[in-house]
Amino acid sequence: MTVGNDPVKVMKQEVGKAAAALVQSGMIVGLGTGSTTAYAIEYLGNRLKSGEIKDIKGIPTSFQAEVLAKQYGIPLTTLDAVDHIDIAIDGADEVDPQKNLIKGGGAAHTREKVVDALAEQFIVVVDANKLVDKLGSTFLLPVEAIPMAIAPVMRAIEKLGGKPQLRMGVKKAGPVITDQGNMVIDVKFDSIENPAELEKTLNNIPGVLENGLFVGVANKVLIGEVKDGQPVVREM
Ligand code: 5RP
Repeated sequence: MTVGNDPVKVMKQEVGKAAAALVQSGMIVGLGTGSTTAYAIEYLGNRLKSGEIKDIKGIPTSFQAEVLAKQYGIPLTTLDAVDHIDIAIDGADEVDPQKNLIKGGGAAHTREKVVDALAEQFIVVVDANKLVDKLGSTFLLPVEAIPMAIAPVMRAIEKLGGKPQLRMGVKKAGPVITDQGNMVIDVKFDSIENPAELEKTLNNIPGVLENGLFVGVANKVLIGEVKDGQPVVREM
């Protein structure tokens, strides 16, 4: 296969396919959110349909994942009904060399963290553009907060040295509303020196539900990239 005129799409497809290939019959699978995971969900559905695997159940991390799972024929379950998750497949907005992540580009990081952190194996699927030396260098850090606390949360973030902005909707007037009915503040930090500490500090601000730092959660990072005009998938 050659990459044609949309290399990023091809990288996402290939890495999504590679992650879907790791799922075995009988597994409980965390279904992530975003354009890369969407390909993994599609290929997982194809594997079920062809009979290559059977008896899997998905736990969606967002409304988007739930809709896609239904579209591709993946039976769903909930965290009430299962006592473990075998594998979770999810995308990321940035990945550092220690496999720490920034997530939340799709405003789904709260449910994603619940599902991804519970999984025995959390597989991250990204294209090579997501790799950074230091988190926060290319992507703003998403922080989900309850609507009545937006102003004090933004002030508290400024005191920590961050520059907060409320995420606004596209083709929707006003702020983005998460699947939980909250809002997202995107924060520019000049430098995130200690992601583990910042993750805890932000979550300690009253009114914050969850932030997009995923520290020490990922087990495997699969990277889609283009080498000599061909798409390849490698493990970090
Ligand atoms: C959603 C996420 C996504 O996984 C992340 O934004 C990556 O998305 P994409 O695969 O479309 O680049 O964290 O909240």
